[in-house]
Amino acid sequence: MAAPIVDSEYLKEIEQARRDLRALMSSKNCAPLMLRLAWHDAGTYDAKTKTGGPNGSIRNEKEYKHEANNGLKIAIDLMEEIKAKHPKLTYADLYQLAGVVAVEITGGPTIDFVSGRKDSTESPEEGRLPDAKKGATHLRDVFYRMGLSDMEIVALSGGHTLGKAHRDRSGFEGAWTKEPLKFDNSYFKELLNENSEVLKLPTDKALVEDPKFRSYVERYAKDEDAFFTDYAAAHKKLSELGFTPA
Ligand code: HEM
Repeated sequence: MAAPIVDSEYLKEIEQARRDLRALMSSKNCAPLMLRLAWHDAGTYDAKTKTGGPNGSIRNEKEYKHEANNGLKIAIDLMEEIKAKHPKLTYADLYQLAGVVAVEITGGPTIDFVSGRKDSTESPEEGRLPDAKKGATHLRDVFYRMGLSDMEIVALSGGHTLGKAHRDRSGFEGAWTKEPLKFDNSYFKELLNENSEVLKLPTDKALVEDPKFRSYVERYAKDEDAFFTDYAAAHKKLSELGFTPA
């Protein structure tokens, strides 16, 4: 599909959609699910073949039915309300805008948003998103494939400061922090607290077991500003994988 023309009209619609997204997320408390939607659309990127990435393809039945995307049909349906009001905007832009708004309205950093992503109806094969039952090597395989670094893996994992796991979606249950609707550095503090009873996936535990990852966990647990700065940059990069603004 062709890239949208990003003119002043398009940008005006983006600002209106931003307001609609804020209202939707605060009325439905669905910021965490929206952040997961944005990440799962983007996180299929393969830097070698330049396939996957933030292109709206997660809305295809074939892709939202991938096991890793269990539960995201709810978010896709909610986004249809926004798309119906702003048909000019691409799904790809809307999903990434939702991710940025989710972080912002829950108290996280402001993330720079650039418009103009193309939509795709082609979905990547299943298996590109990380498997929560695996460890550090797997995390590196998946994120390096996208072109992301160790620092970015740890910073982005801080997205688990929001939301919870649902047994019927992933097989895991519970939240990573005591305030799952607040974006802060508590995910890292909980990771370092061995007595904490919050949810820790095998991939979360890998971040404290691997020495290189652990150094970032310690830094972010101590310094929320450092986390916010690195998170905002990594989130922007994730939201623009394979996308070159015109
Ligand atoms: C939820 C795995 C990285 C944001 C989940 C769930 C799993 C998971 C198993 C639970 C789904 C459910 O049962 O509802 C992973 C793995 C990752 C990863 C293995 C590898 C590092 C990320 C990243 C972000 C993110 C990079 C965002 C920047 C979220 C959010 C939720 C979530 C916000 C909560 C959704 C809700 O409350 O419904 N993740 N994730 N995750 N993930 Fe991740």
